[in-house]
Amino acid sequence: MSSIYKLYIPTLFLLGLIGAELLGADWLIPHFELEQQEMVELSYHRGLWIFIWLLGSYSCQQLLNVFFWQKWISKSMGGEVPTLLINLSNVCIFAISVAGILGHVFEMSLTGFWTTSSVFGLIIGFALRNMILDLFTGLAVNIDRPYQIGDWIEVQQRTADMNVLGKVVEINWRSTRILTEENRLVVIPNSLLTTFVVVNLSSSGLETRFETSFTLDFSVPPGRAKRIIEAAARSLIYEEGFCRDKEPHVLLRETDTIGVHYLLRFWITPWQGVTPGQATSKVITRVVDHLTQAGVTLAYPKQDHYFAEMPIRHYDTRNHADSKIILSRLSLFSSMNDRELSQVSDKMRRRFFYKGDTLIKAGEEAESMFVIVEGLLEVRAKLSAAKSDVRINELLPGHFFGEMSMLTDEPRSATIVATTDTICYEIGKEDIREVFENRPEIIAMISETIAKRKVLNDAIKKEWSDREKREETDSISKSLVTRIFSSFKFKTSHQQDQTP
Ligand code: CMP
Repeated sequence: MSSIYKLYIPTLFLLGLIGAELLGADWLIPHFELEQQEMVELSYHRGLWIFIWLLGSYSCQQLLNVFFWQKWISKSMGGEVPTLLINLSNVCIFAISVAGILGHVFEMSLTGFWTTSSVFGLIIGFALRNMILDLFTGLAVNIDRPYQIGDWIEVQQRTADMNVLGKVVEINWRSTRILTEENRLVVIPNSLLTTFVVVNLSSSGLETRFETSFTLDFSVPPGRAKRIIEAAARSLIYEEGFCRDKEPHVLLRETDTIGVHYLLRFWITPWQGVTPGQATSKVITRVVDHLTQAGVTLAYPKQDHYFAEMPIRHYDTRNHADSKIILSRLSLFSSMNDRELSQVSDKMRRRFFYKGDTLIKAGEEAESMFVIVEGLLEVRAKLSAAKSDVRINELLPGHFFGEMSMLTDEPRSATIVATTDTICYEIGKEDIREVFENRPEIIAMISETIAKRKVLNDAIKKEWSDREKREETDSISKSLVTRIFSSFKFKTSHQQDQTP
């Protein structure tokens, strides 16, 4: 019925008027004195045409509205056409009718009109650029429909606590209005919406997953923590708004100085009896209840302080007690007990050598060995009598040297030179005699090192293969043990028992 008044009657009236005007019906024109008649007629025709243009614009708007927007577009879009679009088309039609009035009725140049309106439009456009941006974003929202009226959306901003979650109650040409859970109306300009991420929670059904996290102490085993939290969340699934067919589950998200962070994921149908805020509150309450029952508390920032004697971070090679500790750290002496270590450390001498000093000269007779504490040494030997010394190896902290002569009574087999300033402990043959007598395994260890060194030196001289080197090492090592025992004049039975 309303379309009769809005559409058909004005249209019929319009057609009638146009017909009457075109057919030259001038029975409506009031008659005056001759000199006024022409002006009256002109005003009458102008007025009539203005009326026709305006009525025409109105009829066009109604026609477009009823047949184009409501019937065709609305059907193809499968929903109501946004008022914003209809209003826009109405404004365009009205602008055309104004142009028609100016051009047709007042015979003005339309080029001027369009030029003036373009310049005017430019100025207005510049001044109202934000509004125009809002308008077009609003249009895009209306056409693209990322969300509709009634949808629950979350507008995500730079930080999570600034996110806006609510129900879309209006989308107009300028803004989108969201009614939040707290019953606040948030008006977001459409142009701003294009710069934010908008999450539509209603797009694929209302069932939505939410999450909340709990931090428990490291001492709580993860399996137990997960069991308690999961059970608590599961106990809520029959409550209104919670999804029964979607199980909540717990993930171990990260660990930090406070404890282990557990992420609980649960499903609800928001705004169907429970809002996300209410659901999260229920979940947290339930989890805290379950944790309390189980005797587990949430973790809080803390620092553990242990009081213990400060370990020595710097040993002094001159200090007697420290030098004993340094000695005990060397692999050669690591198996010795405190008494044995004292026996050696009490008698050993600390020696300092400058870079370039010769510590041992090949061919000399000697009865002491050295252990390196700091520095770097170079082992040099002659490959043949005619040639001069060449570098055959290097000795690092923790290594020992000079053992060959001390244990086998042979002259020094190589020359040792300090590559850097070096600190060593020198141990005399007699100073270590008792320890060696009780510790044949140390003699075996030294014998193996001597054998390796001898073989290395011979291999360099004779260019032996790896197999030859191995065989030679074994045989030298065995014969050495015998020699060392006889050099120290240890008992033969002991020697036989302990030989490896
Ligand atoms: P001694 O023979 O008493 O004096 C020289 C020392 O040089 C010797 O004991 C070994 O300790 C050491 N020496 C000899 N050859 C080597 C080698 N190839 N690698 C490391 N040290 C060696």
